[in-house]
Amino acid sequence: MRALVTGGAGFIGSHLCERLLADGHDVAIIDDLSTGSLANLAACDRDPRLDVRQGRVEDEALTSRLVGRADFVFHLAAAVGVGLVERSTAAAIRTNVLAIDAVLRAAVPRRVPVLVASSSEVYGRSDSVPFQESGDLVLGPPHAWRWSYGCSKALDEHLAMAVAAETVVPVVVARLFNIAGPRQVGDHGMVLPRFAAAALAGAPIEVHGDGTQTRCFCHVLDAVDALVRLAACENARGGVFNVGSDVEVRIRDLAHRVRERAGSVSPVVLVPCEEAHRPGFEEPARRVPDLRRVTAAIGWKPSRGLDRIIDEVLDDRRRAGRPRTPST
Ligand SMILES: NC(=O)c1ccc[n+]([C@@H]2O[C@H](COP(=O)([O-])OP(=O)(O)OC[C@H]3O[C@@H](n4cnc5c(N)ncnc54)[C@H](O)[C@@H]3O)[C@@H](O)[C@H]2O)c1
Repeated sequence: MRALVTGGAGFIGSHLCERLLADGHDVAIIDDLSTGSLANLAACDRDPRLDVRQGRVEDEALTSRLVGRADFVFHLAAAVGVGLVERSTAAAIRTNVLAIDAVLRAAVPRRVPVLVASSSEVYGRSDSVPFQESGDLVLGPPHAWRWSYGCSKALDEHLAMAVAAETVVPVVVARLFNIAGPRQVGDHGMVLPRFAAAALAGAPIEVHGDGTQTRCFCHVLDAVDALVRLAACENARGGVFNVGSDVEVRIRDLAHRVRERAGSVSPVVLVPCEEAHRPGFEEPARRVPDLRRVTAAIGWKPSRGLDRIIDEVLDDRRRAGRPRTPST
């Protein structure tokens, strides 16, 4: 198979590229390196089966050319992270909506199947945990920037479903829940690398809000396995699937666990959301996926636990913080 991975130089995308190459596929990527990095591809960038194109997915000519050579598209490129969306809300909305439009427009004439990486953010304020894919999406009002990312991802899903229904392009949607692991960076608000970096620096580990909010963390390699299996599953086409872990941890407890596993003396401090974010922020209390649909479709459940994820993120941050020598 020749796969196209949009956002292939990103955190999840780079692990996906490695997995696809290991499975024997040819892989092309398109990435504007806005939050991704070519360094993420260091393990596979000498592989002649990897074709790296720097550019924006909204560039219809480029995307059309690359989709035209692909047997399958994994659409991961997006403006990701609370920090990024908070700083540049309008640009993030445009990226998320226009990029998928370009991918689907290119996929239709060639009938290339597309997997869309969506997000648990689409569930918004819903408190119907565990979230079922058929459940309501409860998004807050448009003057609160916080809901714009979830809303853009929900619109991506609608567009993908509508195009699939009106054409013959097969589409599958994966709603990812707090994916974590090596190569994720904390620059745009991702909590685990942010905690890890603070713990290793001996700096305060800042928990936003009262820390009783829970999240479920899924190892990136488990998530990539789900994406590859969903792509290969004919029966999954046309479907929406939660992908994540259903093991909850309170964010305050996560901070202490990271500190303990890092052997750090960093204090854990609570920072009110009003101080950590500009007005319009709201923190959903719980976010737990119902995994029955994805398990029934592809027999998938995550296998790597939270301590392993924390240890790997700490190791990755240690490596990232190590000064480079001329030979490395
Ligand atoms: N990491 C998570 O926990 C999580 C959770 C839910 C959903 N997702 C989704 O998974 C996908 C990948 O996220 P990630 O965590 O790897 O983030 P990431 O920021 O590491 O990856 C996104 C990649 O897309 C690239 N990109 C952004 N806009 C682009 C554009 N217009 N054209 C070309 N490239 C562009 C970035 O440079 C980056 O390499 C995203 O669609 C995201 O919404 C991730």
